[in-house]
Amino acid sequence: MADKAPHPNPLPHGERESGAHSVSDAPDNAMPLTSPRGGEVGPQGRVRGEGAETRGPILDVAGVAKTFVLHLREGARLPVVSGAGFDLYPGECVALGGPSGAGKSSLLKMVYGNYRIDAGHIRVRDGGEVVDVASTAPRRLMKLRATTMGYVSQFLRVIPRVSALDVVAEPLVGDGVSREEALATAGALLARLNLPERLWSLPPATFSGGEQQRVNIARGLIAHRPLLLMDEPTASLDAANRQVVIGLIEEKKQAGVAILGIFHDAEVREAVCDRVIDVTDFARAA
Ligand SMILES: Nc1ncnc2c1ncn2[C@@H]1O[C@H](COP(=O)(O)OP(=O)(O)O)[C@@H](O)[C@H]1O
Ligand SMILES: [Mg+2]
Repeated sequence: MADKAPHPNPLPHGERESGAHSVSDAPDNAMPLTSPRGGEVGPQGRVRGEGAETRGPILDVAGVAKTFVLHLREGARLPVVSGAGFDLYPGECVALGGPSGAGKSSLLKMVYGNYRIDAGHIRVRDGGEVVDVASTAPRRLMKLRATTMGYVSQFLRVIPRVSALDVVAEPLVGDGVSREEALATAGALLARLNLPERLWSLPPATFSGGEQQRVNIARGLIAHRPLLLMDEPTASLDAANRQVVIGLIEEKKQAGVAILGIFHDAEVREAVCDRVIDVTDFARAA
């Protein structure tokens, strides 16, 4: 019910998109990211890969402020964050913490470019370039999402008539992998997540919450994206499948992927997260 600007870049899973990203002609910020840690490869020292592309943070958030303006409520203003700032390095997993309503999901959507911000910058390193999500053109944002920044939402957006296997394989096919290979990889991932094989050829519309969530996770993790945003990826899973997801997240970290997520489940958070950023620190200032 807020910020009713049209938005060309919806979240991939059909989430509500008020507070949309503003369209801007500003050129992409091509300056290299510097960090107080200089050219280190991140606090975990785990980063693989070569050269400058793995140095410094992959995500640099600074001075971010946002107030929702509720146009249907006589322009009532709802400050959500102010002075939000943090870095994220390749190979680390950072949780956004704080109680319900603190602004965790909103901050994640700002990083993804779905909520525009009122101040600050959100810089993502994309290969040799740095893109400021807050000011870049929509087309550049789409490209950034296609190659670098993935988003795993809490709920699967169900596409009618498309089988679970195809739903999962699609990001790989989009990356140029052959359909046959993409389907094989999707099957391996669904097997690992204990999704019964009889379900693979069916559209996930009628699946249980936990089955849909596993399809969603598989789809979100199947392709390599150096920066992954995850909003409660294990909320509907049983203990065994939570362990599978913990393993998958560990593998992403080992491969140098940086993860920013909301993990309500303490077991998952403690297993995979290197630190927690308390969003109430930013909310208090707002
Ligand atoms: N699109 C929106 N329009 C207006 N208010 C919103 C919108 N999205 C979130 N909010 C408000 O911002 C605050 C933070 O919400 P949210 O980011 O979902 O919190 P969390 O994920 O920490 O539970 C809440 O008060 C919520 O009502
Ligand atoms: Mg939330």
